Amino acid sequence: MAQIEWKQGFSIGIASVDQDHESLIEQINQLYEQLGLPLDIITIEAMLDDLEADISSHFALEELLMQEADFAEYADHKHDHDHLLEQIHDLKFHFAEDPNMGRELLVNSLSGWFGKHFKTYDVRLHNLLG
Ligand SMILES: [Fe+2]
Ligand SMILES: [Fe+2]
Repeated sequence: MAQIEWKQGFSIGIASVDQDHESLIEQINQLYEQLGLPLDIITIEAMLDDLEADISSHFALEELLMQEADFAEYADHKHDHDHLLEQIHDLKFHFAEDPNMGRELLVNSLSGWFGKHFKTYDVRLHNLLG
């Protein structure tokens, strides 16, 4: 199953953000592992709830840092955060409606869901320090 791999090169040099990224990637990878086991709806729902809560506070942290730094890409970056939160909300909804189909959907979309944002928008947060 596709997993996201943390690389040192992903570090953006802000400790709180880097720690969040590492732990979010770990959380997503654990969820992937769980999705490959016999279906356990309660556990998966709990993991999705945790992931949504943690990603939401992580986004709030990045948005605060960007605002404080008057970062030019703030609006675009926040827009992508909002979009990702809508997507995780939809994934949870689909899983609750039909766990088998919802699991399929999660397996196919979860690493891309956050991975793409992380490798594009978040990597550019390097410039916050520049
Ligand atoms: Fe991030
Ligand atoms: Fe971000």
